[in-house]
Formats: sequence, structure tokens, C-alpha cells
Amino acid sequence: MRGMRLSGWGAALPDKTVTNADLEATLDTTDAWITERTGIRERRVGGTTSALAIEAGRAAMLRAQVDAATVAMVVVATCTPDQALPATAATVQDALAIRGGAMDVNAVCAGFVYGLVTAAGLIATGTDRLLLIGADTMSTIVDWDDRSTAILFADGAGAVVVEGTEGPGDLLAFDLDNDGSARHLLQADVGGFIQMDGREVFRRAVRATVESAQRTLAQAKITADDVTLFVPHQANVRIVDAVCSRLAIPVERTVVTLDHHGNTSAASIPLALAEAADEGRLRPGDLVLLAGFGAGMSVASALLRWSVPPVSHTIDPEAESEVDP
Ligand code: ACO
Repeated sequence: MRGMRLSGWGAALPDKTVTNADLEATLDTTDAWITERTGIRERRVGGTTSALAIEAGRAAMLRAQVDAATVAMVVVATCTPDQALPATAATVQDALAIRGGAMDVNAVCAGFVYGLVTAAGLIATGTDRLLLIGADTMSTIVDWDDRSTAILFADGAGAVVVEGTEGPGDLLAFDLDNDGSARHLLQADVGGFIQMDGREVFRRAVRATVESAQRTLAQAKITADDVTLFVPHQANVRIVDAVCSRLAIPVERTVVTLDHHGNTSAASIPLALAEAADEGRLRPGDLVLLAGFGAGMSVASALLRWSVPPVSHTIDPEAESEVDP
């Protein structure tokens, strides 16, 4: 059996911060409403999907101490590519001097977990090492005059290096699902803006995430009690709270970054994972549950056994020479 393991992670956020107070100036809304109804206080906006993906991918390779020449594949999960073609992964591959395959996957906010499962399949069938990135610039498909959506979405990228390993590896169980009959609840035409039935998306997001997570836990033959850290999609703190309460996972074992990241779609889970790892919240052997949902309506969950040793040295992004070939 040939499994996969994660060996590094990286994150990228635009420089520009947009606070709720900034939105008060242009929309009929208040900081109090946004904070109370969503938990979001500020978000990062700007850049391009490929530039953010490149920055996050470079950071992940540096953290994993791997040279680009040894990476055989780039997979980018995104619903906001800068171009209709080529794939965002082609731009990333060129910028990072990676050879081999390159492709995008689009399962919107569940895209990173879909990408992770795709990565596990590629590893199982012979790919030695790949770079998986979740990257989105949701600000480019938001109508900034629509208070029901402009307050929610943001930009960013998160990346992981995925390696082949003998044995079952880090991915213990997963669940992928989609209800295409509900796709009209959250959509954006090509060149258009996000349209959303917020209340119905909320209701379905809670149910679908809980059910997917339960299927993954059952497949791994564990209970929510065994989960060390829960990394849910960062859309709305009330969704996170409802999911945690139904799964009986306490908030102390849950990563919440939406207060400062907003909803960055496919970037939300890898950004949250990277933040938790950087804060030392992950130790080898920990069981990490990822769960994302999004337009489609897509849902995906995965259980990982964290195996990356704690970093014992400072990673200097300028010190390219530290990277082993
Ligand atoms: N500021 C002030 N008032 C507002 C705002 C705002 N920004 N937005 C809506 N309102 C008003 C509404 O007009 C409505 O007023 P009314 O009662 O006079 O009609 C009132 O607030 C309540 O509106 P609701 O839509 O019922 O508010 P709700 O509590 O459901 O919160 C929200 C709206 C935040 C959008 C919530 O429904 C939600 O988070 N839904 C899930 C959305 C989501 O997660 N989408 C992303 C999925 S992931 C992906 O694939 C991209």
C-alpha cells in the first residue's frame, strides 16, 4: 500500500485589510450586524489568484525543505482563476520552476479537500511528490454594492506539499459529496457576481457538513471525541458553532480564522490549517478533521493523522539556499 503524507504548508494573504468599519462607509450595514451575524471582523482583499497561489506554494516547499525540481505535479483548487485558460496550475508551475503535470480542480469551498483526495489518488498511482494549493480571489466575483455577499468573501491562498510514503499514510478516511439539484442556491455566471440564498445555504451547510464529517469518522472507526483538531470551512461562525455543537466537538479543538480571513473559499481550510500549524497547535499523531462545503452544493471531509514534526528551526523565506535538492 502506498499512502500520502503532508510535509509542509504555506499561506499567502493580500496586504490590504478591509475592516467592517470600512464596509460601513460604502454599504448599508454596521460592524455590529456583520460581527454578530457572521463573526467576521476584517478580511484581506487584493492580488491575483495565481500570485497568491505562487506565494503560498513557494512557502510550503520551503517549509517542507523540498526543491521544485522534485515536485512532479501541481494541483490548484480554485473557483476564481485569473484566466479561463490555461489552468492556474500552469502559471504556478512556471513561476515555481516545477516540471510534470498541472491542473485545477473546482469544487468551490470544498475544493481543497477534493484536491487532497485527488492528491492521494495521484500518490497511490505513482506520483512521488506534489504541491496542492487552495487559492481564491472571491473579491473579483463579489458585487461590492451587495451587502448580503460583500461582507462575507475575501482573498487568499494556502498550500501543502504531499509526498508518497510506504503504508497507509496520513489520510485515514474521507467523504466527497455534492447535491447538484441545489446548485441554484449559490452561483455566479461567467463574468458575473455571486448570487446566494443565504438562509438556505446556511441551513444546508450545517446539515451537509455534519453528515459528511460523520461519514468520515465512521469510516475511520473513531468518534468526534478522538479528533484532536477540527478545521472547518470558514464561512460564518454561526455555521461553525452549529456544526461543532452537532458533532460534539468543543470550540477549543476547532480552528476559527474567519474573524480575520473572511470566507476565502478554497483557501479557507489550508489557510486555517497553516495558521494552526504555525501556532504549534498540531503534534505528530494528532487526528485532524477537515470539512468544507460550498456552491454545487459540494461538501467534503477528510481525516488526517498529522505526521509533520514540530519545526525546530526558523524558516527564512529569503534563504532559498537552505532548500535541499
Ligand atoms: N447588514 C445589515 N443588514 C443586512 C445585511 C448586512 N450586511 N445583510 C442582510 N441584512 C438584512 C437583510 O436584508 C434582512 O433584513 P429584513 O429582515 O428587513 O429583510 C436581515 O438582515 C436578515 O437577513 P438574513 O439573510 O435572514 O440574515 P441571516 O441571519 O441569514 O444572515 C448571512 C445572512 C450572513 C448571509 C447568512 O445567511 C449566511 O452566512 N449564510 C451562509 C452563507 C455562506 O456561507 N455562503 C458561502 C458558502 S461557501 C461557498 O461556496 C462560497
